Amino acid sequence: MIKPTIRALSAALLLISGSIGAFAQNAQLVSKEIDGRVESLLKQMSLEEKIGQTVQYSAGFATGPSASKLTYDELVAKGGIGSMLNVVGADRTNHFQHIAMEKSRLHIPIIFGLDVIHGHRTTFPVPLAIAASWNAESAETVARMSAQEARADGVQWVFSPMVDISRDARWGRIIESNGEDPYLSSVLARAWVKGYQQGDLSKADSVAACVKHFAAYGAAIAGRDYNAVDMSELTLRQVYLKPYLAAVDAGVATVMTSFNSLNGVPATANPFLLTQILRKEWGFNGFVVSDWGAVGELRNHAIGDGPTVARRALEAGTDMDMEGNLYATVLAEQIRAGKIPGSVLDEAVRRVLRVKFALGLFDHPFTEAGPAYTPTPEKRATARKIADETMVLLKNDGVEGSGSLLPLSAKIKTVALIGPMADDALDLEGAWTVTGNPRNVITLKTALSGRLGDKLLYARGCGLLSPKDAAALKGVTFTGTSTGSTGTVADDQQSIAEAVEIARKADVAVLALGEPTNWMEGEAASRTTLGFTGAQEQLLEAVVATGKPVVLVVLAARPLELKWAAEHVPAILQAWSPGIEAGPAVEDVLFGEVNPSGKLPVSFPRAVGQEPLYYAQMPTGRPARGDLSRMPRNAGEKFITRYMDEENSALFPFGWGLSYTRFSYSQPTVDHAEVSVGKVAADGKPVVTVGVDVKNTGSVAGTEVAQLYIRNTSASVEQPLRELKGFMRVTLAPGETKHVIFPLGFEELNFYNAALKETVEPTTYDIWVGGNSLATAETRLKIVE
Ligand code: BGC
Repeated sequence: MIKPTIRALSAALLLISGSIGAFAQNAQLVSKEIDGRVESLLKQMSLEEKIGQTVQYSAGFATGPSASKLTYDELVAKGGIGSMLNVVGADRTNHFQHIAMEKSRLHIPIIFGLDVIHGHRTTFPVPLAIAASWNAESAETVARMSAQEARADGVQWVFSPMVDISRDARWGRIIESNGEDPYLSSVLARAWVKGYQQGDLSKADSVAACVKHFAAYGAAIAGRDYNAVDMSELTLRQVYLKPYLAAVDAGVATVMTSFNSLNGVPATANPFLLTQILRKEWGFNGFVVSDWGAVGELRNHAIGDGPTVARRALEAGTDMDMEGNLYATVLAEQIRAGKIPGSVLDEAVRRVLRVKFALGLFDHPFTEAGPAYTPTPEKRATARKIADETMVLLKNDGVEGSGSLLPLSAKIKTVALIGPMADDALDLEGAWTVTGNPRNVITLKTALSGRLGDKLLYARGCGLLSPKDAAALKGVTFTGTSTGSTGTVADDQQSIAEAVEIARKADVAVLALGEPTNWMEGEAASRTTLGFTGAQEQLLEAVVATGKPVVLVVLAARPLELKWAAEHVPAILQAWSPGIEAGPAVEDVLFGEVNPSGKLPVSFPRAVGQEPLYYAQMPTGRPARGDLSRMPRNAGEKFITRYMDEENSALFPFGWGLSYTRFSYSQPTVDHAEVSVGKVAADGKPVVTVGVDVKNTGSVAGTEVAQLYIRNTSASVEQPLRELKGFMRVTLAPGETKHVIFPLGFEELNFYNAALKETVEPTTYDIWVGGNSLATAETRLKIVE
């Protein structure tokens, strides 16, 4: 049965009566008061002033090819700039705001936007790491603190959250995302928006959020940034659009277009995405900004000259041109000539003004200068707790017949800390912070030497990049030259020998390896290989060869190929890019002060050739023995879906993460074994619950992320082998059991049918609950006519 979704209904309501539906609306943006103020202002505006509201320039540093040669002071005074990005600090923002409020004819405030990606002044773990905590509260807290710090710096608009479904580890921007799964990403998308906006843009410490990049940017062909995206509308709707919709549902005030084309139409001039889906189906009522220069770059997509592409972008629904310098230069003439209806421009201006009014910018345009930022103990404590929860224990075997290597035993006397990430503040901070300061980062070396004193031996071991890569990449680093990232010219071999030497002297070696986050992660940082960079793999092998117990701490925010390590290293901790509390957070887990609870939000490959790799695979007619694409290579059959040189499965699957304790799951049960299609579709509320007992069977307290997966076993359109539809963090004392309940309703059970309608049909759902995507505890739910 197809259900007219509540979202669609609310959008329809809005169109008919201007009233607000339960979903997909930011109520503040459609208030009568704001409407009145917007309309009265609009009436007074000249064509140039209207266009000004659709123009955004970077008056700070550039994050792309800069287009404007104009004087910002003059432009602002003329009312020619609606928004600026990369202008940070009370003094800088007030400078322009005073011109806007005092010298421009209509005194329309500027909205200042910035990339606040994993914290503003306080740098937290990158978003993919936060996703690994499966803790929406963490995302909300990071957003909340970021909003407060950004507002104190005169920034009222943040270009976050980035919720592009990312299934390809070659794509550097995977680190900014919530990972591969639409359900997890949607839960987190809501939390980020809530933390930034607090459901009330008018609060002095709220910022407008900007969900990006709309849409499907993460599916760039071959994992190469900015590349085209080509996918079925069904996959688009069922997988890729879900997290953006969640953000819109949560009231996000703005949306950013993506650089890519989608099925032949660039997203920045795509009426299907920006008008049909975003406005008509979802009822989005904020404004849409292009990505950096994307309006101008439409010319490179060869769909028209400057005036044509500007018209196409505006008419499609891109309300603001970020640094493209095209709306500013070519719209006026076309509107005067009647080539673009004035009403299209008016609508874009309305949308921008509504957000400015809702933020209270007309009434409180300026920022009071506050004290200089310091990472207070409270901020550090929050950053540390959040980083603690992002740590994923990938492997933890015993050594010499003893139990597990981690946590490190109190008997261990000497620790050899080895690796180029151990003391590299800039790369530990993570790939994308505009206002963070690597000087605030406590490195692993600092943290561990504080704890162990002269019982800590340290060797860098090698450079992060090979000299060849360092030379080749010179000049294309994102946020500036990183001294920690450059290769050690000819002495890697010497450094490895020194590292081996200290490993021999120690009881255990902790290897801090990764990739240079500022060179090789984030935007424009795609890779064709996923190994450790430089001589790090060689360093790892040399240290393992000493026979000393080795703990590998992976400080890379994208999935790397860890195959050799998984076979030869007893303990592996995936620590991502942890931010300012990197060292203390890793220390917490190594010494057992924190029991790791993170779970992978993205599958880790055995080999780069498996990418894009994700657990929610579709079935094939020639399955690999039906076992979730797991297949030993000696399965003895040829004509099945497989690689000839590697197993199909992930090295570490989605949802994976160990603990210092063990958890067991009871057989899950459903409270109604059968429910009718009509009931499921009726009111959008949960109709059944799945219950399971989770028990801590070990000897220390721990937190488990219990995960629920479903499979629709008989649908009119084939469905994934598994899909996440619920999760919960459960903290348990040793021996303790908790009963966990997962609600299921239309929201969890629906899929898109061939007519692209969300539907539920008679079928049976296989349901699993467990600690990762290979969970085996199973029950069933039957949906009947
Ligand atoms: C990125 C966006 C970012 C924008 C503004 C672009 O290059 O793709 O994510 O928000 O720059 O800096």
